[in-house]
Amino acid sequence: MSNQIWQDDGDKQRVRDASDIIRIIGEVVALKPKGREYAGLCPFHDDHNPSMAVVPHKQIFHCFVCGTGGDVFTFVRKFHKMEFREALEYLAQRAGIELKPRRREAVEPGQEGISRSQIHEANAVAAEFFKAIYNHAEHGRSARTIVEQRGISLAMVEKFGIGASPDRFDGLLMTIGKKRMDPRAFTEAGLLRTKLETGHMYDTFRNRLMFPISDMIGRTIAFGGRKIDEEDEPKYLNSPESRVFNKSATLFGLAQASRAIQVQRTAVITEGYTDTIACHQAGLENVVATLGTALTREHAVVLRRLCDRVVLLFDGDDAGQRAADRAAEIFFAEPIDVVVATLDKVTDAKDPDELLKREGGLEVLQKAIASGVDVLRYRFARVARSVEGGGIAVRSRAVEEEVARLADLGLSDVEPVRRRMIIRELARLADIGEETIARAIPVARGARRRPGAPPDTTASMNEGPATSITRLANGPLRTIEALLGCALCDPSLLATLDENARAILAPRRFETPDLQELAGAVLDALGTSASDLGSLLPMLATTEAQSAATILQARTDRETTSDPDRLRRHWTECLRQAHLESERAAPLASGADTDALLARIAQAAGRSQRFGGDLKVYPRPNGR
Ligand code: GTP
Ligand code: MN
Repeated sequence: MSNQIWQDDGDKQRVRDASDIIRIIGEVVALKPKGREYAGLCPFHDDHNPSMAVVPHKQIFHCFVCGTGGDVFTFVRKFHKMEFREALEYLAQRAGIELKPRRREAVEPGQEGISRSQIHEANAVAAEFFKAIYNHAEHGRSARTIVEQRGISLAMVEKFGIGASPDRFDGLLMTIGKKRMDPRAFTEAGLLRTKLETGHMYDTFRNRLMFPISDMIGRTIAFGGRKIDEEDEPKYLNSPESRVFNKSATLFGLAQASRAIQVQRTAVITEGYTDTIACHQAGLENVVATLGTALTREHAVVLRRLCDRVVLLFDGDDAGQRAADRAAEIFFAEPIDVVVATLDKVTDAKDPDELLKREGGLEVLQKAIASGVDVLRYRFARVARSVEGGGIAVRSRAVEEEVARLADLGLSDVEPVRRRMIIRELARLADIGEETIARAIPVARGARRRPGAPPDTTASMNEGPATSITRLANGPLRTIEALLGCALCDPSLLATLDENARAILAPRRFETPDLQELAGAVLDALGTSASDLGSLLPMLATTEAQSAATILQARTDRETTSDPDRLRRHWTECLRQAHLESERAAPLASGADTDALLARIAQAAGRSQRFGGDLKVYPRPNGR
């Protein structure tokens, strides 16, 4: 065993000597030379001015604000959440160093838990498998036909690692068997599912064109699978979130685009995978896509470390307007300019993919991108329209409200140049002096955390557990929490479930008292006229439950861009996910037992309604 450590140590030294810390860090944080050192935004705290120094001659980094520092190993392990061996292999590969072979430690199946690196490995194996299927003369034919019809070039198939899943239930499963790999890692990656009745495993992705979704350094962390057969549903099937896949912090194509984003200091965000691929093919390489959800502050945090301008490219104007409003709030206090560009002003093509297939499409697209409107100007223009014709009193009240809103969003933290621009715009809007507005802005309260600012994702491993509220606002949600959010946005979703199925939101399934109370109230209010958020709030006894309700509702609304279709899609996907999770949690429970349990919970929920929803007498099925 000591021999093992000694070997790793020798390797570590060689790899560290061969690594270039500027290049490794520079891939995820834009670094600017500053004397003999380099400076960049620190990714380990909520940094707004470059506080991280990287020192090439010492091969170390150090943050002056949060104190995080170390060598290239420290950075890689912290930033990419790698275990030591993963970091060693990653850096060795980047430096072109061959490691001494390592004895493969025998894994006793079923003995220990699955590690993050096993989940990464499962995704990597699946990506290779899907590529092999794509290139298979027979099994990949329909996928290749679609790719050709859509005009996706071979170079893009390579660049994005496009693959295909075979039209059968056990394609990947057999490969895993042959390789003698632990299927649990594949289950956790969402690549395998287990049939409840029989306990048999089967492939999640069947007969789909497979788009690997990767992290910033190109590790596959999930897949988007587009249907090949038009009859299939849904159109896109995505991997569920896992320990390596946080959907709301991930951008499709970021690994392929990050260099161009840094060089051009601008990122363009499209709505679809195929739009991103079409843009790269046309030579626009700083383009990424969200994964079918709205932009989040986590996305903003990733992007602000790479560039200082983001262009949101939307197909149509109403989606654009809704998104612009939200983006304005999310990016407001970030040191990054956000511009909204919509296609429908310049073309009747429905998306960039379609536009780029036309003669001269690239020029039109570039024009659309160039004529984007700054989200704040856009927002102020709307305020201006709303007070049009009003007197000075009306206008100054509108501006006061806007200043208050912006103050909430962190106006006092915004750097001076940008703040002056904001003040000037507002002054013009209200036709009052800039001084008056400047005075209305509260003074910065030092390093206070803005409301709604999530714990920095990469730093959160150093922090204690987030309070429930900050997590509900920005952190990862459990599936049932996401479902609760949907039900708060549209109570009729919950009404579509039968009584048994509604027990999915039974209070006992939630971890904290605020959510337990909220879930109970949501179930109780169902079918009464008081099921919307406004009528629900007064029925909640504690302020914690009220905040939880407001925050969950607002977040869900934001993430589905207030679009009822998106909301419904999100709801359906969460239900599917919840179903899978319960299969995973109780793979041996027979269907009948589960049904009985669900029925009992549903009954209990009904009883609580008769008791007037009093939580004290709420029957807890487990006697809890
Ligand atoms: P094509 O229609 O093949 O050109 O793909 P697209 O990427 O242009 O799809 P579309 O414009 O319909 O949707 C845009 C994005 O929304 C997609 O890239 C997906 O990320 C997401 N999306 C669309 N349909 C679904 C769906 O059924 N489920 C999920 N989860 N996401 C979807
Ligand atoms: Mn499309």
